[in-house]
Amino acid sequence: MPDSQQVASNSSSSRSATATKPALWSSRFVFIMAAVGSAVGLGNIWKFPYITGENGGGAFVLVYLACIAVIGLPLMMSEVMVGRRGGKSPIGTMAVVAKAEGRSKRWVGVGIMATLAAFLILSFYSVIAGWTMPYIISAISGSFSDINAEDSGALFGGLLASPWQLLLWHSIFMGLTVLVSAGGVRHGLERAVTKLMPALFILLLILVGYAATTGHFGEAVSFLFKPDFSALTAEAILTALGHAFFTLSLASGAMMAYGAYLPKNVSIARTAVVVAVMDTCVALLAGLAIFPIVFAHGLAASEGPGLIFVTLPVAFGQMPGGGFFATLFFVLLLFAAWTSSISMLESLVSYLNEKGVSRVKAAIGGGFAAWLVGITTLLSLNVWSDFTPMDSFARFEGKTLFDLYDYLTANIMMPLVAFLIAVFVGWKMKPEHSKAELGAWHKLWFPVVRYLTPIALLIVFAFNLR
Ligand code: PFF
Repeated sequence: MPDSQQVASNSSSSRSATATKPALWSSRFVFIMAAVGSAVGLGNIWKFPYITGENGGGAFVLVYLACIAVIGLPLMMSEVMVGRRGGKSPIGTMAVVAKAEGRSKRWVGVGIMATLAAFLILSFYSVIAGWTMPYIISAISGSFSDINAEDSGALFGGLLASPWQLLLWHSIFMGLTVLVSAGGVRHGLERAVTKLMPALFILLLILVGYAATTGHFGEAVSFLFKPDFSALTAEAILTALGHAFFTLSLASGAMMAYGAYLPKNVSIARTAVVVAVMDTCVALLAGLAIFPIVFAHGLAASEGPGLIFVTLPVAFGQMPGGGFFATLFFVLLLFAAWTSSISMLESLVSYLNEKGVSRVKAAIGGGFAAWLVGITTLLSLNVWSDFTPMDSFARFEGKTLFDLYDYLTANIMMPLVAFLIAVFVGWKMKPEHSKAELGAWHKLWFPVVRYLTPIALLIVFAFNLR
């Protein structure tokens, strides 16, 4: 057992005898790995490249980076801070902290909505993450070798059209998530993230290394970093802002739940900066790995959600050692999604655990419920693709159940939770209390969360509700 884990075992066993506090992360490094594991996922490797491709590249990337720095980062500091002050599940934490600040009990609603958002995201995230597994098998079995775009599209379409296949992969992925979650903070999460995250970084660097040899690296660099502001629409700005929340695992309880396990002597601000920078680096590395391949094979950057699943097999199929690189890529994506889904389940599991349910039962129960809801998502990709139950409301017209869950979480619940958290820490919490947690960084953080973040969020919300 490494020293750090030994320390955690010792300190948590003595702590558990005297207090109801949860076991803490054994070191700042472990917290960073867990938080990076939560932040880095499908959002970085699957979604960031395709929305960047759809929104014209450089200028969109610049706005996204600004959103991370100015809105996402202060909000992450806020969530981790509130989580550490409360030391409980997001629901329990909001109750404890609101009470300590002499505020209404109703603030607990923020924790409930965040937990619900995480649960809903998990239900469909698991379905998408499941796609990586048949791709790993195809990669290993050499099915991508010399595949053309049409056949690759058919392969992806075939997967989406088969509810049983989707059910199998969704079930396995949810099972993997429950497995780690049931193991608990020290035994499950820590062990998984400290091994998975470094592996993920190494795999990405190898892929970028390969991409640099394609002869189209320069093109990808200028696509990603040379802003063309004429390509930037108002909607692209909002997409970038919304993605900043999703990619940093904000407004869904994940960072708050993990913050509850953060030891008091760790600097929240410095840690949040590291997490945000690493998350951003992974997204940019994913872009640098994917776009040279896209350009080298004359594929469309604006392909959409199918970008990696439809176009990359074509590229992998043509490159030397493509089967090997394809396997690495989809394994990497599976790992990244896994460490994110674990954090999505944590809000609910930690809450049930507080209510006296054992961690194993809470993880199985929560995972099972999310799995059931996930089935409605996977059916809406095929059998229920015409089932659009909210057509009588113009805003929801033509949306399948999957589209509705996505819309409800990304466009309604997350901006609302983020707004309320900013209002809570900026206006309802005593500045001395936040100062005690954030130290010198408080001066910079406070005016941002008090004014800039809520105003920016109101604009997003107003736009979504038009
Ligand atoms: N940040 C994850 C990603 O980029 O894939 C998604 C996510 C994780 C959202 C955890 C919400 C959450 F609670």
